[in-house]
Amino acid sequence: MATKVYVTGVSRGLGKAVAEKFLKEGYSVVGIGRSSDIHHVNYTFLVCDLSLQSDIDKIQFDTTCDEVILINNAGQIGNLQRISDQIEPDFEEVMRVNTLAPMYLSWSCLQQVKGAIKIVNISSGASTRAIPGWAAYCASKAAIDRFSETIQLEEKEKGRDVNVWSVAPGVIDTAMQEKIRSASVENFSSLETFLDLKKNDELTNPQVTADKLFRLIVLEEIDRVVCSLREIE
Ligand SMILES: NC(=O)c1ccc[n+]([C@@H]2O[C@H](COP(=O)([O-])OP(=O)(O)OC[C@H]3O[C@@H](n4cnc5c(N)ncnc54)[C@H](OP(=O)(O)O)[C@@H]3O)[C@@H](O)[C@H]2O)c1
Repeated sequence: MATKVYVTGVSRGLGKAVAEKFLKEGYSVVGIGRSSDIHHVNYTFLVCDLSLQSDIDKIQFDTTCDEVILINNAGQIGNLQRISDQIEPDFEEVMRVNTLAPMYLSWSCLQQVKGAIKIVNISSGASTRAIPGWAAYCASKAAIDRFSETIQLEEKEKGRDVNVWSVAPGVIDTAMQEKIRSASVENFSSLETFLDLKKNDELTNPQVTADKLFRLIVLEEIDRVVCSLREIE
């Protein structure tokens, strides 16, 4: 069966590890993002700033393959500060990248692709837990959980071969965690928790997370939409 895998946010972190995992397993991968240094015969890169609707509108899915896997991974943590203290709130960019871009890409994928579809939205534990200093991020991930559950029900009603997950990947050792640790304790009351996770070597390697995500998608190891990779051994 010919499958094409689309992954957003492939410049580093989880997205890069996921794209490389699928390439290693012999899949054709299309990276979507602002930059990428992956070189592989089965890899194509589409330049796209996911905060720009005009860039998102240009993304076309391959309608000739039997199956499309769309992994909406790109994300931003945003300003690490209480809303009332922010001089220039960045709600719009956070919501665009974390919520609207996955929604529009899911929409165009569902519209264009007639074969089997798997949509994986990378969510967060913050989708179900309020963390002071992360209001926009928490809101953006809660919204993507509910969107994912809703489109799964819609496509079930239509009898289509569509599987959707909104998956919390766990705490991963990436640039996003570096940014979280760089916050000031005055603005971010959970700082010590994140400093301790790093100090105690409790962050997961992106490659290990990518392996689990691969199993979730290919072996369909979890049959709930909103889920966590912590459920996979
Ligand atoms: N790390 C964790 O502990 C953790 C925990 C829970 C959930 N997550 C989620 O996991 C996903 C991956 O995070 P990560 O930890 O790998 O973060 P990361 O290392 O900061 O990587 C984020 C990726 O998103 C891309 N991106 C950001 N804004 C973009 C834009 N406007 N247009 C295109 N691409 C953009 C970045 O590309 P550029 O190089 O262009 O900026 C980068 O490739 C995110 O959705 C995040 O919310 C992470």
